[in-house]
Amino acid sequence: MKKPALRLVVLVSGRGSNLQAIISAIQNQKLKSQIVQVISNVAGVQALERAQNANIPTLVIESKNRSKTDFFNEVLQSCLKANPDFIVLAGFMKILPPEFIKKFPKKIINIHPSLLPDFPGLSAQEQAFRAGVKATGCTVHYVDEGCDTGPIILQKSEAILADDTLESLSSRLLLKEHEALVEVLAKLEKNNPKK
Ligand code: GRF
Repeated sequence: MKKPALRLVVLVSGRGSNLQAIISAIQNQKLKSQIVQVISNVAGVQALERAQNANIPTLVIESKNRSKTDFFNEVLQSCLKANPDFIVLAGFMKILPPEFIKKFPKKIINIHPSLLPDFPGLSAQEQAFRAGVKATGCTVHYVDEGCDTGPIILQKSEAILADDTLESLSSRLLLKEHEALVEVLAKLEKNNPKK
C-alpha cells in the first residue's frame, strides 16, 4: 500500500460528523491521509461507530470519574504510540493541558464553529445567534494553551439570515466546518515535507 500523506489521530466526544467528513474525503480520494486511530473520551458515541464502519482502529479512554492528569496521560501515551503527523480535535469536548500540547507543537488542529476570536468556548453557534450579528462562521486553528486561541489556519463565513433559527444556522455552519476541515488537511498534506 502507498504511504499515506499524513498519519492522523482524531479525538472525538460525540456525533462525529467532522470525523465523517475526513473519512469520506479519504474514501473519495480527496485526501491521501490515513486516520490511524480515533480516540473518544465517551463510550458508545456515534463517532466510534463511524470509525468502525470505516475499519479505523478506535480507542475509548473515558474521562468520566477519573483525574484529569490520569486521563490525559493515557491519551498522550496512546497518541505518542500512534505517532501521528497531526492530531485533529473533531468535536473533542476537553481542553488539552499544556504538557500534552508541548509534545505536539503545531501538530494539533481544532475546528470551532465561529469566526474566532469571536465566540470562543462552548455553544459558539448560539452565542453568535443570540448576539444578533449578521454573519458568523467556522475556524480551523492550531491548538495552543488557551481556549480556542491558537493561530488561525482557515476561516469560512456564513451569513445569518433573517428567518434563521439556531438549528438552521447550526446545520449550515456544520457543512462549512466539514469543508474547512478537509481543505485544511489537503493544505497540510501539500506542505508535508515527507511527500
Ligand atoms: C462541531 O460543531 C465542532 O465545531 C464543535 O463540536 C461540534 C462537533 O460536531 N467543536 P461533530 O461531533 O463533528 O458532529
